[in-house]
Amino acid sequence: MNPRLPLYLLTAALILLGGLIVLYFYMDTSGPREKPVTSTGEALVGGPFELTDHKGNTVTEKDFAGRFMLIYFGYSFCPDVCPTELQKMALALRQFEQQGGDMARLSPLFITIDPERDTVDVMADYVQAFPPKLTGLTGTVEQIAKAAKAYRVYYAKGDDPGDGAYLMDHSSIIFLMDGEGRYVRHFTLSDSPESMTEALLAAIG
Ligand code: NI
Repeated sequence: MNPRLPLYLLTAALILLGGLIVLYFYMDTSGPREKPVTSTGEALVGGPFELTDHKGNTVTEKDFAGRFMLIYFGYSFCPDVCPTELQKMALALRQFEQQGGDMARLSPLFITIDPERDTVDVMADYVQAFPPKLTGLTGTVEQIAKAAKAYRVYYAKGDDPGDGAYLMDHSSIIFLMDGEGRYVRHFTLSDSPESMTEALLAAIG
């Protein structure tokens, strides 16, 4: 027997396991669907939310039904990552539009994970810096916690130095959801505006 056979078998088993995990995570759950996305086992990411937009209106996921949602969780006081990612999203959206993408089919959303400081007015100011069409969403501490939980977003308040200028620790992921609120794909820090544009054109057209 080849003395390295067990090693080969182990490697093959690990590759197979890795493949299954990837397959499970990206599994396409398209097909007939009557129930809401909250039904067990169908949606790993996403779900219903009730929040307040930057104009002061109460909104839920139903207000965005029929359109893709591009969702980023962050906070307006973020010194670095959030503005960088929102800038990238804005650039990708402008390119998407320039390359014939239909912006009417897409709602870019910025959901704060710092509702105590990100009031409706703060959000209204902030989203203006990231055209086109970014909707800022805030809410009560409970509403934000529920939305973040649905999207498996981690966040935690840092130490307050005493003047309220605390930082928030949070995951940085841009989610693309389809017109029925189902997960399509996500983008991370390593995605460029160009790769995002390309993916948006492929998914939405
Ligand atoms: Ni941030």
